[in-house]
Amino acid sequence: MRARFAGVGHYVPERIVRNQDLESIMDTTDEWIVERTGIHERRFVREGEGTSEQGLHAARAALKAAGLTPQDIDFIIFATLSPDYMFPGCGALLQEKLGCGTIGALDVRTQCTGFVYGLAVADSMIRAGMYRRILLVGAETQSMGLNLSTEGRDMSVIFGDGAGAAVLVAGDDDGPGVLDTVLHSEGSHAKELWMEVPTCLVPTTRTIELVNEGRHFPQMNGREVFKHATRRFVEAVDEVLARIGKTRDDIDLLVPHQANKRISDAVGERLGLPPARLVQNVQRYGNTTAASIPIALSEAIEQGRAKPGQLLILVAFGSGFTWGASAVRW
Ligand code: UT7
Repeated sequence: MRARFAGVGHYVPERIVRNQDLESIMDTTDEWIVERTGIHERRFVREGEGTSEQGLHAARAALKAAGLTPQDIDFIIFATLSPDYMFPGCGALLQEKLGCGTIGALDVRTQCTGFVYGLAVADSMIRAGMYRRILLVGAETQSMGLNLSTEGRDMSVIFGDGAGAAVLVAGDDDGPGVLDTVLHSEGSHAKELWMEVPTCLVPTTRTIELVNEGRHFPQMNGREVFKHATRRFVEAVDEVLARIGKTRDDIDLLVPHQANKRISDAVGERLGLPPARLVQNVQRYGNTTAASIPIALSEAIEQGRAKPGQLLILVAFGSGFTWGASAVRW
């Protein structure tokens, strides 16, 4: 057995924030953002909407596409770096919102690589015979945590909100489904892309001091992240291809984490993929971290770009650093 995609869906908040809207609240320009990132607009939630709520909408869309109900699901995996609360995780919150039975719910904390890690966990559980129908969600509410002033402009122009979800079911070994996944991490680069506060390294009574110093805003060394990302994306794709005995020419559709259009363009170029075999929607949603792959996949399916029998590669890189790739027979 292996995990087969039975349905994929996505949700993005209604509110569109264009680069021009950011120009009015910080010292930036549409030209700078488009030239460095390819992003034109992103979505921001309304206050109170949050991550589990966005995940709920995406989960319902994925269940509808699969022709299943919440009661059919055996287990939930929820990937996010922007949970509603420090604890409990969004998985348990989603269990309640969806109205599933008291099934298990696991939160995955590997940032931009969350969906690929979650897919590997779901596939392993299905292969082991533990569960037959798993709901995998990637959802993010970045907008509430960003420093939307000139000081935080290097990060805040990149990120956006949204959610994507997939229903994975037990499929036959020789049918469509996840062929293999490779996963990596390198914690020596943890502080190149991180959020320091809230932290349990100091008593919570001192958190306010750290917040006053602005240490609760996410921080990034953009150039370092860029350099590592382009290298690791390509390595992960080659590694997973080698494991399944395929080559770059065999890739029908690459669905990369939507970090930055320049990164995806560079990866596509290094792999020798024409634009028709590369999914890009960062232009409209910005970087939605764990949600970006399932949103991109969901749109690619809607557009008829993923066809039965094709080889899809999902690949991600992000904070940790973490990276990984999954090969999927569609
Ligand atoms: O999922 C992984 C998530 N992270 C990423 O994918 C990020 C990867 N990195 C990047 O995409 C790029 O490094 C950035 C888009 C973040 C930045 O592009 P860059 O070409 O590396 O620019 P930079 O950070 O070297 O900054 C160049 C200039 C600086 O000004 P000075 O020092 O040259 O005068 C910045 O202060 O651009 C300035 N700058 C901005 N200007 C207008 C930085 N952010 C902005 C901004 N608007 N939003």
